[in-house]
Amino acid sequence: MRKKIVAGNWKMNLLLDEAEKLNASIDETLSKGNFRCDVYHFIPFIYLKEAIDNSKHVQIGAQNGHPEKNGAYTGEISIHQLAHMGTQAILIGHSERRQLFNETNDFLKAKVNTAIAEQLTVFFCCGESLEQRESEDYEQIVINQLKSALFHLPEEDFRKVIIAYEPIWAIGTGKTASPEQANAMHISIRAAIADAYGNSVAETTSILYGGSCKPSNAQELLTQSDIDGGLIGGASLKPEDFMSIISTYQ
Ligand code: 13P
Repeated sequence: MRKKIVAGNWKMNLLLDEAEKLNASIDETLSKGNFRCDVYHFIPFIYLKEAIDNSKHVQIGAQNGHPEKNGAYTGEISIHQLAHMGTQAILIGHSERRQLFNETNDFLKAKVNTAIAEQLTVFFCCGESLEQRESEDYEQIVINQLKSALFHLPEEDFRKVIIAYEPIWAIGTGKTASPEQANAMHISIRAAIADAYGNSVAETTSILYGGSCKPSNAQELLTQSDIDGGLIGGASLKPEDFMSIISTYQ
């Protein structure tokens, strides 16, 4: 059985009191129900400590981190610092980091290596742009992202990684991949994992879908054969919407 996961990526949103309220609200609701999935919040750095100290049911992750342990990197926060503070997971390879901050495959690879060494759970994001989707080889483009920054890991480490497929054309656009489109890509990603690590690893790797996932489409998307959960942006900012998505796995 693959682990089901629903993760919220708050991106650069919410003020302190809103962040505290949202995290507490989800944590409390989870304490009352019986959900068959793990729940993560990927939140801005400045809210991490409070959330880590107060969450019992939500696992707390960072949206970014620098691979070097310490040094002259003004404005950066190291993965080592995050781990030392109790952060449980990290997003690596999000398309917004790749596109807006020019993060390269080599840099992502370095982050992956450090995060694994620091025992953080890596959520590795991949996905194609609209232009790439319209080309014939979009599947290969996504698989190359995995090959370039992830598949160098030894099997033992790769087993700890969670993959999030997020088609860029569906992020924040209201345009969702159809359940069939998303599932087809997940099947291709799983086949690529099987090529690299064998079937048993592929069958146990959780692959999440992200991109305009919301209460109205979550049930259909998140119950596809090869979709093991969701990485949720906008809809993770409203407790009722996020809980409704989590309830897919109740
Ligand atoms: P939206 O759910 O807002 O489309 O964002 C998806 C995403 O980028 C999650 O990481």
